[in-house]
Amino acid sequence: MSKVLVVYGTKTGCTAGIAEQIGATLAENGVEVDVTPASDKPDPSAYDAIVVGSGVRASNWHGAVKEWVKTNASTLKSKPTAFFTACLTMGTQPEKADEVRAYTDALIAESGVTPVEIGLFAGMNELAKFSLPERLIMKAMKAPQGDFRDLEAVAAWTRGVVGKLGLS
Ligand SMILES: Cc1cc2nc3c(=O)[nH]c(=O)nc-3n(C[C@H](O)[C@H](O)[C@H](O)COP(=O)(O)O)c2cc1C
Repeated sequence: MSKVLVVYGTKTGCTAGIAEQIGATLAENGVEVDVTPASDKPDPSAYDAIVVGSGVRASNWHGAVKEWVKTNASTLKSKPTAFFTACLTMGTQPEKADEVRAYTDALIAESGVTPVEIGLFAGMNELAKFSLPERLIMKAMKAPQGDFRDLEAVAAWTRGVVGKLGLS
């Protein structure tokens, strides 16, 4: 049975829920899956494929995930690896998908890891979940409030990426 590692970075738990949905969908497709935060520094070498993603602050993945990708770049370059980004823009302005896709351009260039696919998912804007300074920033932006996650869209993306991860 193929083994896949799903690694994520989150500040509020939003991206953890998306990572769990990716893991559950892969498991439904007969794959053994571990879903782990990047802060736990998992070793990807024993896996056949990797899915790694993050929530966003100021157009950037969280530091722990970027560090994990860079630290494990040589392993990730040798296995099919997919990225995913969870952010507010995909919930409120999905027409800006190209902008969101570019959030990982610098990481791809720096690490040399070329993802087989980049999933772009709606995240959340729930002020109560943010720190006080973050709350002030988000209030000033006057962005719509809510949890915009669409777990069915996440599952559909995951089913579509199975072949590219070499798992079908
Ligand atoms: C201070 C701050 C900055 C943010 N910057 C962006 C951004 O540049 N682009 C975006 O689409 N979403 C942005 N967001 C929204 C988050 O990416 C969104 O809340 C996401 O669901 C976070 O996932 P996480 O809690 O799992 O890390 C920002 C949120 C905060 C609080």
